[in-house]
Amino acid sequence: MKFFIDTANLEQIKEAQELGILDGVTTNPSLMAKEGISGHENIINHYKKICDIVDGDVSAEVISTDFEGIVKEGEFLASLNPQIVVKVPMISEGIKAIKYFSEKKIKTNCTLVFSAGQALIAAKAGATYLSPFIGRLDDISSDGLTLISEIREIYDNYNFETQILAASVRHTMHIIDCAKIGADVVTTPLSAIKGLLNHPLTDSGLKKFLEDHKKSNS
Ligand code: G3P
Repeated sequence: MKFFIDTANLEQIKEAQELGILDGVTTNPSLMAKEGISGHENIINHYKKICDIVDGDVSAEVISTDFEGIVKEGEFLASLNPQIVVKVPMISEGIKAIKYFSEKKIKTNCTLVFSAGQALIAAKAGATYLSPFIGRLDDISSDGLTLISEIREIYDNYNFETQILAASVRHTMHIIDCAKIGADVVTTPLSAIKGLLNHPLTDSGLKKFLEDHKKSNS
C-alpha cells in the first residue's frame, strides 16, 4: 500500500519524507488556503517546492468546473513536473476531462468521490487515482470503509487499473482497515502516520533494555 501525506505544509511533508515511507502528496484548495498560499504564482511555486521534497506523485487540484477550463489548467499543472497528478472533481465535465487526460497520458486523481457508481464512472474514464472521502462519509453516519470494499470488489471484477486512494482519513484505524480491505493508497495527515508508530509496550520495552544495558555497562 502506498502512503501519501494529505497536506500542503512543507515542514510536515519534509518530516514524512525523512521517515522514508512516503510515496506522494495530495493537496486541495482548502489545504493550500490553510497554509496561507494564495495567488496563481505562489500556488504554482508551492507545487514546485513540494515536488522538490518528495520523489512520488503530487496531486494538484484544478479550480475550473468546465471541460475547457479543466483541460487548460490541468495541462499547465502537468507541465510543471512529471510528478504532478491533476486532481479533478467528480462532475460530468471532470469525467470528460479525465478521459481526455487519460488519452494524453496525463495522470489524474478523481476527487470528491462518495459512491460506488461514481467510482465506476471514474475508472471507465481512465482515472489514475480515485479519491473516496471516507472520513466525510463517517461524519454523516455513513460508512466510508464499506465504500472502499465495494470499490475494491468492482475494480477487481473488471481489472480496472485505477488506484483506490482512500482520502479524508481521520485516524490510524482508518489506515489499518484500508490496508486490510486492499486500498492501493491512503492519504493521511502526518499525525495519523505517526500514530502508527506508537505502542506503550515498545516504549516500556525500550526503556527497560536501555536501563539494563546501563546497569551492566557501568
Ligand atoms: O484528500 C482529501 C481530504 O483532504 C479531505 O479530507 O479531512 O477535509 O475531509 P477532510
